[in-house]
Amino acid sequence: MLFTDVIRAKRDGAELSPEQIRFFVHGLADESLPAEQVSSLAMAVFLNGMTFEEAATLTIGMSRSGTVLDWSDAGLDGPVVDKHSTGGVGDKVSFLLAPIAAACGCFVPMISGRGLGHTGGTTDKAEAIPGYNTAPDFETFRNVVKSVGCAVIGQTADLAPADRRLYAIRDVTATVESIPLITASILSKKIAAGLDALVMDVKVGSGAFMPSHDKSVDLARSIIATAAQADLRTSAVLTDMNEVLGTTAGNALEIAESMAYLRNEYRDSRLDDVVMALCAEMLLLTGMESDLDKALDRCGQAVTSGKAAERFDEMCVALGGPAGFVANDGKHLAQAPVTRAVHASGFLAAVDVRAVGNAIIELGGGRRQVGEALDLSVGFSDVARIGTLLDGETPLAVIHAASDDDAALAERLLLEACTVQEEATRAAPVVHEKISG
Ligand code: URA
Repeated sequence: MLFTDVIRAKRDGAELSPEQIRFFVHGLADESLPAEQVSSLAMAVFLNGMTFEEAATLTIGMSRSGTVLDWSDAGLDGPVVDKHSTGGVGDKVSFLLAPIAAACGCFVPMISGRGLGHTGGTTDKAEAIPGYNTAPDFETFRNVVKSVGCAVIGQTADLAPADRRLYAIRDVTATVESIPLITASILSKKIAAGLDALVMDVKVGSGAFMPSHDKSVDLARSIIATAAQADLRTSAVLTDMNEVLGTTAGNALEIAESMAYLRNEYRDSRLDDVVMALCAEMLLLTGMESDLDKALDRCGQAVTSGKAAERFDEMCVALGGPAGFVANDGKHLAQAPVTRAVHASGFLAAVDVRAVGNAIIELGGGRRQVGEALDLSVGFSDVARIGTLLDGETPLAVIHAASDDDAALAERLLLEACTVQEEATRAAPVVHEKISG
């Protein structure tokens, strides 16, 4: 088969055959297809879409392109369940939800992604913890999940390698925002991880990949229907991405905020609402709880009792990170040499969150090219919420940068991304509706 014929077919709006899609998947996984052909097909799919059958074939094909995990003989006394987000800015939910769910009795083998487009990636954030190995061998991964209850790692070379390559190429070719490609990317990893159940966090708003509420609902339905084809029980919670989630955006800064949350020292209420809603949904979907209030209570107690923090520390050590990290993260995380508070005057009314994510890329905290090394220390802290009255005391955010020039650029980009006005405003609720199959 000539791959140019496959590209031409999709370019001209035809439906690809299962053989053509499998040819694509093999060429991705064994790297026989060059990046320019992969990106051409990705762009053709982006422009012309895929039928449900095409997307399902791509998903299942990519999920089988490497090792498929099986937990049935691991002797686990709880469900194997995970959460995945469609991508946002400031989204550090995974570092909180995984240990909370583990403290509630779930087993969470979380295989996360790197930054994609303007959004941050859990794997990159985890690498801000010195020594933490985001690519352990399968035996280590399995043992950590078994003994601690959770392991947050990155995509290893042998798990859904076809997605790993396609993801890296989409990241830098403006081909991310496609319902079939997002569906196949997310589910191929999750099916390969051998889960019993999956809760999706589908983002809605200016920082989400889907431009409208209706498109986010379409994405949620596509993921749920495709997951059903692979017998993976899935539900979705739509959550707000019209502003940064929590008070930080940037790799090490988000880890610091996550540790303050686990210490129960500072829990931003919007972040907390998302974590609790998703974690409670994990308990409901797996039948660990049948009542939402009880599920929420159980998740909350996992934080206030310190049990979730203990699980995080155990996971961190088991994956090579420092002991006692939750209590002492400040000793270990890299700090940017330049910090600068950005001030404005009036109420923060709206944020172009995609532009904030792109400002982090400009600071060096996200990639412009495949494989680029990141500066994990840069980003924004003290990020104001929509509705905040900004003045000389309360900044829009504090920039963390490698140089004064970078800080000046980030300040300009941040001010351009934010609408500040004289009249008071209120933010929309952070947790929208739940969608199930
Ligand atoms: N997360 C993924 O893993 N893949 C996407 O395409 C988008 C979000």
